[in-house]
Amino acid sequence: MAHHADFTNFHTNDRKESLELVLQHYEALSSEQDNWVANLSNASSLIWYAYHSLKVPVNWSGFYITSSEDQLLLGPFQGKVACQSIKFGRGVCGKAASDQITQLVPDVDKHPDHIACDGETKSEIVVPIVKEGKTLGVIDIDCLDLEGFGETDREALERLAELIVKTCKFY
Ligand code: SME
Repeated sequence: MAHHADFTNFHTNDRKESLELVLQHYEALSSEQDNWVANLSNASSLIWYAYHSLKVPVNWSGFYITSSEDQLLLGPFQGKVACQSIKFGRGVCGKAASDQITQLVPDVDKHPDHIACDGETKSEIVVPIVKEGKTLGVIDIDCLDLEGFGETDREALERLAELIVKTCKFY
């Protein structure tokens, strides 16, 4: 890559391929960097540009990080301003954090405990980042379309979460 920004060029219309490139580019970018702020900032950008190149109207891509025993705090992201603090068990992010299971929400209006940071969001995926049984944080992606995410996304983003565990030091 001639420039760092070139990592956000995704020349494919195939979702699986594009998400595979997110993983490859994340690996390349984190190969000599273990700071979680730096790595997750670039990861949120990779996710944002991958979906936008696929014409998936993602309106938020980023991270919430475990800040104390049962609390998530807003981390690096792309998109509009979002809520800062979420308790484990609350909302889609808090459920992914407490249950350590990916949450696929095809219609946020039908979800009993969705926290609406942006009234325009229609669907969401939240993937927990878990190391040795402890939730370090979650990947959160919102979409302006209903059913914005599915199994292909779950599979790739769970692999991204594993890569994050391997590459980031959380201080
Ligand atoms: N919708 C999330 C809150 C975070 S925003 O989507 C950025 C939830 O219900 O946990």
